[in-house]
Order: sequence, then structure tokens, then C-alpha cells
Amino acid sequence: MLEAFDFVIFGGAGDLALRKLIPGLYRAHREGALPNGARIIPTCRNTQMVTEYKNKVRDAAKEHLNADEFVDADWDSFANRLHPVFVDIATRDEHWDALAQLMNTGGNSQRVFYLSTPPSVFSVCCKHLHESGLITESARVVVEKPLGYDGKTAEEINSQIAEYFREEAIYRIDHYLGKETVQNLLALRFANGMFEHLWDARSIDHVQITISETVGLEGRAGFYDGAGALRDMVQNHILQLLCLVAMESPNRMTAERIRAEKLKVLESLRPLTGNTVKYNTVRGQYVAGDMNDKQVPGYLDELGKPSDTETFVAIRAYIDNSRWANVPFYLRTGKRMKQRFAEIVIQYKDVAHRVYPESAGAATPNRLVIRLQPEESIKIIMISKDLEKHETRLRPVALNLNFADTYKDFYSDAYKRLMLDAAAGDASLFIHRAEVDAAWAWIDPIIEAWQRPENKPHGYMAGSWGPQASAQMLASDRRRWFSIDEVLSGADQEW
Ligand code: BG6
Repeated sequence: MLEAFDFVIFGGAGDLALRKLIPGLYRAHREGALPNGARIIPTCRNTQMVTEYKNKVRDAAKEHLNADEFVDADWDSFANRLHPVFVDIATRDEHWDALAQLMNTGGNSQRVFYLSTPPSVFSVCCKHLHESGLITESARVVVEKPLGYDGKTAEEINSQIAEYFREEAIYRIDHYLGKETVQNLLALRFANGMFEHLWDARSIDHVQITISETVGLEGRAGFYDGAGALRDMVQNHILQLLCLVAMESPNRMTAERIRAEKLKVLESLRPLTGNTVKYNTVRGQYVAGDMNDKQVPGYLDELGKPSDTETFVAIRAYIDNSRWANVPFYLRTGKRMKQRFAEIVIQYKDVAHRVYPESAGAATPNRLVIRLQPEESIKIIMISKDLEKHETRLRPVALNLNFADTYKDFYSDAYKRLMLDAAAGDASLFIHRAEVDAAWAWIDPIIEAWQRPENKPHGYMAGSWGPQASAQMLASDRRRWFSIDEVLSGADQEW
């Protein structure tokens, strides 16, 4: 059982806190996962916000939780744990003393400081925590992305935090690692003997990792236009998924061992530089299009100014080690795409020799399809005999493990999971500084090459699957982006 803790949220009235952090903590409270005496201390930028805080988060929670989760009595008991305070992060004044007083007299020995703020204030926040005597031996700090704009700025941010917190106390969050199906990937790989022997270049033809979103800018133009899809999604979420697919088995499931294995993968990524970037990457930016019969504006119309920022990326990546020698990892993410989903597809090699005649129908290779969202499922695409036909006809079928069938009332909440881990001092699902550095070391040369005029983003219609060039990149390898409908209907037989 967790020890009672104080969980301080800097930026307590901000968007992330209202949409994810407070609802996640409320879920934990309802499940009985918060210990007696655990307190949540959100900071607000003025006294009026403090006064209005509980009503404001109540309204937000109603909006962001599922309808059946919000129960008045549960919320009221949860609200007793909320202790909003006025703290101006930038000014070390009596309000910081009041925060220290609240925490020092509360009797909770465990402390988590969640910096749900722009990274520009991480440093001053840590400094003021230090000057207020709040950083105890066991205190932990949780930091949100974006961790830098490139390797250099990430290094600066990490160094600033490191002036006040030991590396073991710094919890860099990537909410994708908190998704239950993402962790299930580790269980699938390391707790099932049958996959380990089929998890390398001898058996696997290629891997696809896609995070496809339907949303556009969502009012985050200021941040997003300075970042783009490569920094916003690939540097962190997609590379973390790639690590979990490609890493060697840690000898124990500890933070240290898992992170060490992930780091080796990042360090083995074949660098993409100069001319290789154009061949191995596709950038896109959405233009106006139709989404679910509704016309939506293009990126530049939403933004209201010219920009070369990409809202779509596809990359052909290689991991230069013996397990993955010459196995392409196709990575893809985009906004305003046709459908929202996140999926990992492991495509196996075709059978070595086809024993069935052509009249039996073309065989399609096996695939292991891991759906992370919206639904959580694992499918294996197999070839079977068509039982309804007298003559031998082969056809692809899906073995389907749908977690919604087993866990009926389960809501996967990545933030809840990660906040509880931080409170328990378990850093397994957080990112080590060396991982951040290695990820940027691979991303930086791509960004540099993209400054060349020939690497401007291709336009793609909102509601489509991204620019043509993305399909062409795979077609040039005689492959295509996975679509279960195409595969099951036999429409993927072009080659
Ligand atoms: C965030 C990105 O990290 O992840 C957003 O900044 C993106 O741009 C979001 O929309 C996607 O997360 P999820 O969990 O909704 O797939």
C-alpha cells in the first residue's frame, strides 16, 4: 500500500490539470488507490482562482470523465483532498512559505511535485522549491514534455532540473507509457515463450507503428507551430513504442534495467542525415478537407499565417543490431487523418516455399496487430482454409483478443497510472535523461535536413491517410500501410 503523500501540481488550473491530472486522481480515489491522508495541492496564479478552484475542477471533471464515473458523493470525498494554494512560481515570496508550512505540518513524508507548466519555468520552480526547503531526500519531480526543442535545449532543461534533483528523483513523463496496452506489449513479449523465437530479422519482414489522430490544432497553435509532428509525437511517443517493440529482454522488470535496454535501441537507430533524410522521411501538412461529411479548414487557415510546420510524418527507420538487421520500421503519425487509432503491426515473412497451387488463392503473410487505441486488442492474422468451399481455398482470418470483452468496466487512464507510480516511487515507466538525449541525437539531423527547400511538407487533405508520398515510400519497398479491411478482403495482394 502506498504511503500517504502530498501531490503538488504546479499549473494546477491549467489545461492538462483540468483534463487529465485531476480526473485521473479522482479515478484513483474512487478505486481506493489513494491512501488515507493523501493530499493534492494544486497551485493557482491568484487568490480568486483559489476561491473558485473546487467548482472549476468539478465542472471540468464532469466534462472529462465518462458519464457513469462522476458520482457526487465520491467527488465530495475526493474534493476534501484538494488544497488549492496561491503560488506565483516566478516570485519567491510569502506564498511559498505558506506552501512549505502546509506541507511541513501535514505529516506526509512522501512528496511529488508535478510541473504541469511550460519548461521555461521548470528551472525557477525547482530553485524556489529548493529555497523553500521543500526538496526532501525522497521528494520527486514529474516533468511534462516538451523536453526541449532539440538536443541542446533538452540538455539545458535537464541540467537545470539536475541542479536541484538527483536523476533518480526526476520522473520524465511520456503518457504513452502509461497506456495499459503499451505495457501489455512487454507482457506479450517477455511472458509468452512463443513470441520470443519469432521476434527478429529471421522471422519478421517489417514493423509499422502508427499514431493517427483526427484532431487538428485544438487551440494549441502557439505551441504546435513551433514544434510540429516530429517533435510533438515522434521524438517521444513513437520512439518509446519502437523501443518497447525492439528492446532486448531486461533480466528484471526494474526501472534501471528496462531503461538501459530502451537506451540501447535508441543508440542503435541508424542515423538519418543529409540526403538520406529525403529518401527515408515524408513530411505533410493538412489542407482543407472533408471529415465525417464536415468540411474542416486547412492547417494554415487554422493558424492564420504561413508556416512550413509538418502535421504528418512518415519515416523508414532501421535499428543496426543483429536482432533487427535490415528490418524496416515504418513510423507514421498525423493530425486530421481519416481515423483515430494507434497501432503496432509486426509483419512476418512469407512462407519459405508455397506448397499450395495458385488456384488456392494468394497467401498473405502473418501479422501480429497490437491496437493501443481507441479499442485495446491484439489480433493475429492467419491463413486458413475456407471451410465453406469444397476445393482448397485459402483466406486470411483474424484471431482476435479484444480486451474490452474481458475487462468490461475498465477505463485505461495513462495519467492516473503514471501519477500513482510517481507517488509510489516507481520510475519504470518514466524516461531517463540518457533516453531523451539519444532520441534527440537521432531527431536533430532530420530537423536540420528538413530546412532544405526540397524537404518542404507535402499537402494532404484533411480526412485522408496523409500525403501520397507516404504510401509511395512503402510502395517503393513493395509494401503498404496495413489496413485490416484490405487484408481480410484479400485486397492487399498486389505483389
Ligand atoms: C500529446 C501531443 O503528447 O499527445 C498531442 O502533444 C497529441 O499533440 C496527444 O494529440 C495524443 O495523445 P493520445 O493519448 O490522445 O493519443
